Amino acid sequence: MPIISKDISKAVALLSSEELVAIPTETVYGLAGNIYSEKAIKSIFETKQRPFFNPLIVHIPSVGYLDTIVSQIPEKARQLANAFWPGPLTLVLPKKDTIPDLITAGKDSVAVRVPSHPVTLELLKQLKFPLAAPSANPFNRISPTTAQHVEEYFEDKIKMVLDGGPCKKGIESTIIGFEKGNPIIYRLGSIAIEDIEAVVGKTPIKNKKEQNPDAPGMLGKHYAPSTKTVLSSNILKEIENYGGMRIGALTFQSKINSEAISSQIVLSEIGDMSQAASNLYDSLHQLDKLDLDIIIAEIFPNHGLGKSINDRLQRAAHS
Ligand code: TXA
Ligand code: MG
Repeated sequence: MPIISKDISKAVALLSSEELVAIPTETVYGLAGNIYSEKAIKSIFETKQRPFFNPLIVHIPSVGYLDTIVSQIPEKARQLANAFWPGPLTLVLPKKDTIPDLITAGKDSVAVRVPSHPVTLELLKQLKFPLAAPSANPFNRISPTTAQHVEEYFEDKIKMVLDGGPCKKGIESTIIGFEKGNPIIYRLGSIAIEDIEAVVGKTPIKNKKEQNPDAPGMLGKHYAPSTKTVLSSNILKEIENYGGMRIGALTFQSKINSEAISSQIVLSEIGDMSQAASNLYDSLHQLDKLDLDIIIAEIFPNHGLGKSINDRLQRAAHS
């Protein structure tokens, strides 16, 4: 089993000797390694069983550090960085030659962000190199939002989880790339699209159903529980399709009154979407452990963070 510890100096020592450490961020836990260590980066792909064509996000300590990673910064990228960093925004920009191809899967762009978790910001400040960190889950599983989720996933495959408590945002960063200087959303995430648009104007979302070479690894099944999951805007009616089965329900704010449901979780009784987002993955983890036949999840209002939550629910339900 990995050590679960708050000791930043221990994490510095391990990462500086090319080992992996799971790190807390405001979005989800990441599985981190030195971007310049081939050994560490290969071990990230191996541990996650992630295909090499799916590139990694580089985590840096400050906006000022961006110039050492990327070769060009469009004006709107700078505006977004200044508005949201440290925070759950990932920018995809042309990479410097010094960034290893393993990180970017051979692409000439690199994904980069400044996370806002105080523990990991302090860690990044103490290290002499940035950290590559995909979400700390095996390929195609739900992202971890607590140190315990990471421990359950990897057991003795990693040495340490740096414990920063439960992740406040609870879903991954919003990823934005640029075409001719204009922003495009590659992945919906912890920042509501309306907040992005307040800074840089109307921003299209790359259609995830198309084969999308700009955003590899964002297609189809992802973030999925092992239990079959379906979405519905009317759970009471949906239940009728699953007579005699053990049903789990995941709803936004109201409890469903039905004896047909074996287990249910309400994401935010006060109807707050950011609270719902922060509870989403842990709730899916919990329902997934109950040996249910089916999880029925309620579709969210399709605006603000609801759009990002619906994106993750659709991926969870994809089969
Ligand atoms: O919130 C987050 O972003 C978390 C925390 C740990 O920072 N990280 C995370 O990483 O979600 P990961 O590896 O699970 O997802 C990163 C996504 C992948 O789908 C990958 O395809 C995309 O970023 N990506 C990375 N580099 C890219 C690039 N150069 N161009 C387009 N997409 C890229
Ligand atoms: Mg991931």
